[in-house]
Amino acid sequence: MFKNRLRSKQLWDRIVSADEAARLITDGMTVGMSGFTRAGEAKAVPLALAEKAKRDPLKITLMTGASLGNNLDRTLVEAHAIARRMPFQSDPGMRKAINDGEVMFIDQHLSETVEFLRSGQLAPVDIAVIEATAITEEGAIVPTTSVGNSASFAILAPKIIVEINLSQPEALEGLHDIYIPTKRPSREAIPVVAPDSRIGVPFIPIPPEKIAAIVLTESSDSASTVEPPDAETNAIAGHLTDFLLNEVRRGRLTERLLPLQAGIGTIANAVLQGFSETPFHDLTMYSEVLQDSTFDLMDAGKLNFASGSSMTLSTEKHMRVLSAIERYKRRLVLRPQEISNHPEVIRRLGIIAINTALELDIYGNVNSTHVGGTHMMNGIGGSGDFARNAYMSIFVTKSLAKNGAISRVVPMVSHVDHTEHDVDILVTEIGLADLRGLAPRERAKVIIANCAHPKYREALADYYKRALLRGGHTPHLIEEALGWHDNLRRTGKMLASSPVAT
Ligand code: COA
Repeated sequence: MFKNRLRSKQLWDRIVSADEAARLITDGMTVGMSGFTRAGEAKAVPLALAEKAKRDPLKITLMTGASLGNNLDRTLVEAHAIARRMPFQSDPGMRKAINDGEVMFIDQHLSETVEFLRSGQLAPVDIAVIEATAITEEGAIVPTTSVGNSASFAILAPKIIVEINLSQPEALEGLHDIYIPTKRPSREAIPVVAPDSRIGVPFIPIPPEKIAAIVLTESSDSASTVEPPDAETNAIAGHLTDFLLNEVRRGRLTERLLPLQAGIGTIANAVLQGFSETPFHDLTMYSEVLQDSTFDLMDAGKLNFASGSSMTLSTEKHMRVLSAIERYKRRLVLRPQEISNHPEVIRRLGIIAINTALELDIYGNVNSTHVGGTHMMNGIGGSGDFARNAYMSIFVTKSLAKNGAISRVVPMVSHVDHTEHDVDILVTEIGLADLRGLAPRERAKVIIANCAHPKYREALADYYKRALLRGGHTPHLIEEALGWHDNLRRTGKMLASSPVAT
């Protein structure tokens, strides 16, 4: 059976066990692994590497597309095998090691990692470990459920370990579109002019002699962890739909909208799912991760085409979509993340970007990464790539966290990922704030009135009123601006009147 998958006969003698392949990875190396939002990661070699590190301690710099599934980040961290990690993760064990200072985490815009590698601004990748559906007759690699940074890792690394995953359907071949931008400063325009533009080849072209080891595997991707929609996420979707319908009425958008991007997580997935109940039609997506909602919208006849860098699905959706991938394939493409997230393309296509905030402030700054201003959650991911360059940059969030101990609308965010300059629309279950064309003093009024939870609205209005007395373009009581975060740290709730403590 593997002969269909490993079509280059000259590579048959490279098949080894995962343990043997892991021996190629040694202390101090920079390893570029496939994997993006828990899809398409190499599954056996990282586990073998963790075992090797337990016997014979080693530490590597681990680069991926984005987060890894199958608890791989946790397993590697428990084996103390990771010194540095970039550009994104979402694993509780890795998160703890980062926040304990054991792992140095470089939280980077997802479009940028391979640009930095290519220009020598980061230490080079010593070895790439890539999951594949197949290796072609010419020795090119066909990725699986994600592309992420795999193409550039494989092209730039002197040595490659390929994991051919026999459980990934052969029909994935043809889904990918691999295009590597030309050198700067004489780079040619990236010719994506619509979400369905195909501009490259359906495999990663590499000299086959670079393939140092091939491992056969059969483990599946992990299921996505998104929660189903609830009353609050439905309310957020409702506010956003009403707003977009109004844009249509005013002639600024049509019912086809513009290509959509939806970020990771429960809220963004639920918001997109809500679009199946709207008059919008013939939609397209130019996004980074394709979640369940993408396929729900396709099945509802609302979505014509989706471009992404990975597919991260629940167990039920994974089985249904992958077993019918031949049918979906003509309406899907997976690209390298530097193309799915490329500022040039995002600006050209005019994308409606929907990402999630951990918290936002009364002037429209957004924190997507740091709990309490200090503790890393996941990373900025692609949210910055999209937010800065979108036609319209929308951030969604529930107004409260931890049963109301935390207001997600605060006087000043404890960490800024997206500045007020990159945020057009804010939505909570309470309502929507349209910040376009508003000065900070105007923004504060609309954010407090429309987005803050009633339990915190008065306290925010009081803060703003007192700040106004001091004047300024962006009035603040600078000694009090982070006070709610300090209260939370000391007492487990932001205000004495908060409903409960964490
Ligand atoms: N302070 C402390 N904790 C907070 C918080 C805050 N202001 N806001 C949320 N939380 C907690 C929640 O209580 C929840 O904790 P729990 O799991 O213990 O219940 C957790 O953080 C996740 O919050 P939730 O509201 O369920 O968010 P989500 O699953 O929709 O994810 C982000 C939200 C911001 C973490 C996620 O979207 C992310 O990592 N974004 C950055 C990357 C990105 O946007 N990529 C987009 C391109 S794909």
